[in-house]
Amino acid sequence: TAGPLVDRYGRVHRDLRISVTDRCSLRCTYCMPEQGVPWLPRDTMLSTEEVVRLADVAVGMGIEEIRLTGGEPLLRRDLVDVVAGLAALDPAPEISMTTNGVGLARIAEDLKAAGLTRVNVSIDTLDRETFIELAKRDRLADTLAGIEASAAAGLVPVKLNTVLMRGVNDTEAPDLLAFALEHGYQLRFIEQMPLDAQHQWDRTQMITGEEILEKLRTRFELTAMPDDTRGSAPAELFLVDGGPATVGVIASVTMPFCGTCDRVRLTADGMIRNCLFATGETDLRTPLREGASDEQLADLFRESIGAKLPGHGINEPGFLQPPRPMSRIGG
Ligand code: GTP
Ligand code: 5AD
Ligand code: SF4
Repeated sequence: TAGPLVDRYGRVHRDLRISVTDRCSLRCTYCMPEQGVPWLPRDTMLSTEEVVRLADVAVGMGIEEIRLTGGEPLLRRDLVDVVAGLAALDPAPEISMTTNGVGLARIAEDLKAAGLTRVNVSIDTLDRETFIELAKRDRLADTLAGIEASAAAGLVPVKLNTVLMRGVNDTEAPDLLAFALEHGYQLRFIEQMPLDAQHQWDRTQMITGEEILEKLRTRFELTAMPDDTRGSAPAELFLVDGGPATVGVIASVTMPFCGTCDRVRLTADGMIRNCLFATGETDLRTPLREGASDEQLADLFRESIGAKLPGHGINEPGFLQPPRPMSRIGG
C-alpha cells in the first residue's frame, strides 16, 4: 500500500509495540498503586482480529518487529491466537513479548509454537520479601518459573529487565547480574521513567545509569561495547569480565536514545502513540470500526509519525508527564 514510516527527522519506524491489555497481575510501585488503576472498558479493547488487521497495515509500511506488551500480556486469554494471527502476516514480522513472567511457565511452549520468538521478563529482585514489597504480590516463584520455562521452550535469548528503586532493591544489582550470568540470561538495568500512575517519580531519587555501573563494578569488570553495534536498541551493552556475556543499561532519562528511535505504539484500546511520552494520540479504533480502508488506516499511521517530536523532553523545563500511565502504554 505505502512507503515506509519516516518522520520529519528521518527516523524510519520498523518496530511496533502492541499493548494487548492494560490489566496486570502485579502492582510494581514504580508503575501503579496497590489498588490498581481504573481499567479500560472491555468494549474499547481491540479484538484479536482488529489487532491483526492493524498490524497487517503496519507490516505493509515496513514494520518488521512486533513486541507484545501490557499491562501484562499473559492476562489476555486469547494471547496464543494473537501471536498466531501476527505470525501469519506477510511479510512475517519477528514477534517478541515483554512480560512479568507470572503464568508464563504454563503457556511458554504454546506461545513458541504459535510463532513467538523471544521474551523479555521483568525481575527486580531475587528476594521473596523484597518482591512482595515492590510488586505487592507474593509471586517471585512464578516469575522465576516463567523465566526458566521460556528458556526451556527456546524463547531465546531471554532478556531480563530490572528497575532499581533506592532503598528497596538497589543493593541487589550485583546479585541479579550473577544470577543472569549463571543461567545465560541477558540482564538490563532500566532507569525509572516518569510514567507511574501515581505521578510520584522524583529525579533526585532515580538510580542513574552511572550509579548502576558503579554498583556493578564493585564485583564485575565492565567494558563498553562499541556504540555502532547498538543500532536503535535502548540498551547500552557492556561486556562482563571480558565477555562473552553482556549486561545492559537502559538510561532513557540521563542518556536519551530518541535520536535513533524506530518505535511506534498501539494501545489496547486502539490508539497510536508515536512516543512513550507523547501527549497526544491518534485514534485508529473508531475509523477501524467504521469500516476504514487499509489506505485510510495507513494514512493515520503516517499522520501520527509525521507529528513525532525529536525527543521525550524529560530533561527540559516544563516537561509534563503524559496522562496515560505505563500500564496503559506497555513500556
Ligand atoms: P529488546 O528489543 O529486546 O532490546 O527490547 P527493549 O529493551 O526495547 O524492550 P522492553 O520491552 O524489554 O523494554 C525495556 C525498557 O526499555 C522498558 O523500561 C521500556 O519502557 C523501555 N523502552 C522501550 N522502548 C522505549 C522507547 O522507545 N523509549 C524509551 N524511552 N524507553 C523505551
Ligand atoms: N520506568 C522504567 N521502566 C518501567 N517499567 C515499568 N514502569 C517503568 C518506569 N516507570 C518497565 C517494567 C518492564 C518494562 C516493560 O518497563 O519493569 O520491564
Ligand atoms: Fe522514541 Fe519517544 Fe522513546 Fe524517545 S522517548 S526513544 S522519541 S519513544
